[in-house]
Amino acid sequence: MSQSFDVVVIGAGPGGYIAAIRAAQLGLKTACIDAWTNAQGGPAPGGTCTNVGCIPSKALLQSSENFEQAGHHFAEHGIGIKGLSMDVATMLGRKDKVVKQNNDGILFLFKKNKVTFFHGTGSFKGQAEGGWEIAVDGAKPETLIAKQVIVATGSSPRALPQAAFDEERILSNDGALRIPAVPKKLGVIGSGVIGLEMGSVWRRLGAEVTVLEALPTFLGAVDESVAKEALKLFTKQGLKIELGVKIGDIKAGKSGVSVAYTDAKGAEQKLDVDRLIVSIGRVPHTTGLNAEAVGLKLDERGAIVVDADCRTNLPGVWAVGDVVRGPMLAHKAEEEGVAVAERIAGQHGHVNFDTIPWVIYTSPEIAWVGKTEQQLKAEGRAYKAGQFPFMANGRARALGDTSGFVKFLADAQTDEILGVHIIGPYASELIAESVVAMEFKASSEDIARICHAHPSLSESVKEAALAVDKRTLNF
Ligand code: FAD
Ligand code: NAI
Repeated sequence: MSQSFDVVVIGAGPGGYIAAIRAAQLGLKTACIDAWTNAQGGPAPGGTCTNVGCIPSKALLQSSENFEQAGHHFAEHGIGIKGLSMDVATMLGRKDKVVKQNNDGILFLFKKNKVTFFHGTGSFKGQAEGGWEIAVDGAKPETLIAKQVIVATGSSPRALPQAAFDEERILSNDGALRIPAVPKKLGVIGSGVIGLEMGSVWRRLGAEVTVLEALPTFLGAVDESVAKEALKLFTKQGLKIELGVKIGDIKAGKSGVSVAYTDAKGAEQKLDVDRLIVSIGRVPHTTGLNAEAVGLKLDERGAIVVDADCRTNLPGVWAVGDVVRGPMLAHKAEEEGVAVAERIAGQHGHVNFDTIPWVIYTSPEIAWVGKTEQQLKAEGRAYKAGQFPFMANGRARALGDTSGFVKFLADAQTDEILGVHIIGPYASELIAESVVAMEFKASSEDIARICHAHPSLSESVKEAALAVDKRTLNF
């Protein structure tokens, strides 16, 4: 006998599991199907984000930052350490524990919210009376009937055609998160978010890291002045970043990988490394869904085509997260998941794409929301800019982390905040205030008039807002 549900969610990444919880909260009978399997063969809900993305990468960034602090910065506090060492196996074990806590947390949340969880691959069988027939291919095959289906099947790493991932020498994000010993030489192709975060982890632990990037500009989507500062700081830290390269043959052997490439000047070069991370973007994942057979429309990138409300071309079928258009970010997937569940329940869910924050968890961190200066110039919009360096912030000096700045961009006439860009300590946390401000259509003057605790890094946000009107108090 098939079990019937109001909503069946396929995929339990941040888009899917959050959609399932919200649907259940709204009184809808909800199931969620997820295929991710842990090393013991059990379910591991949470998707890319929890298993091989946001969470494990941040765990390793923290461990490696602690090592860097202990090795290079504790001495200035008078703390001496003799015989500092790094046990990679312990670090990876801690990361795996953090992942497991998150997997278990999601299973607990499903129980708490009465979401029925199925471990296996979900696929469309066809339309049935009262909705869609969804097959679950798992330890115990099942067929579910769903009035509404939310597809949240995420994305997969994009490989170079000449270098398939073997996760031993040629690594995707998966292999990059479980290198068993610090490589002497590590190559990274693609200086995007994964390349910089994972390159930073292994550089801090002692690897000589070379990043090869096809584009002539560094971090093209980031505000130019932030990208320029980041390139300067990362290079000073020891990341070797080569821009404007063209990757040629890649040969992987037992002991290493050899990458042939043409540099920006047109000269033929060769990079020999112990391991190579390929982080050149991700592709929407729809394999196993049986999408074609039921006529689910995909675009030329393989993403499920949706309208502004995440409706697909099929009645009662929605799609959210990395598998649809828009930025591939966990919090974007979550917002879409919530909005779709609310729409199914007859409410008016909404996602504001103009205020989705971005964070790159390097050191210093980079975070931004809204428009970059180059975007405003291209739009011909009149704007005012204000900037404040962490060097002039008392808390940053006490932390011993004064690199970077906060930059505000506001409309020249109305003073409405159009973009905020931060490179510096805890930028990931500091950006939240600006997201709130932009959601409420605040002006830079509004932020400048709000009392910020002293001493705190957040005073730099207030000072950058004051700088828009050329009246900083501490710089
Ligand atoms: P996913 O998380 O990919 O989840 C999809 C799930 O669906 C998976 O569990 C998959 O097994 C399952 N699935 C697929 N097909 C089927 C099927 N047919 N049946 C059943 N189950 C299926 N984003 C951030 O916002 N912040 C970060 O710090 C960040 N760091 C990242 C670091 C790395 C190394 C990577 C790779 C990504 C990172 N991201 C980060 C991006 C983030 O992980 C994704 O945007 C997010 O996971 C997308 O969520 P999703 O729910 O759409 O898909
Ligand atoms: P990315 O899109 O951030 O960067 C890919 C880089 O590779 C680009 O700079 C691109 O120009 C370059 N590239 C593409 N083809 C190339 C080639 N043939 N040779 C050399 N360079 C090439 O993609 P990345 O780093 O793989 O990450 C995928 C996505 O995952 C991100 O876009 C982001 O959405 C998400 N993510 C988010 C994080 C966060 O929010 N902190 C962390 C990690 C990933």
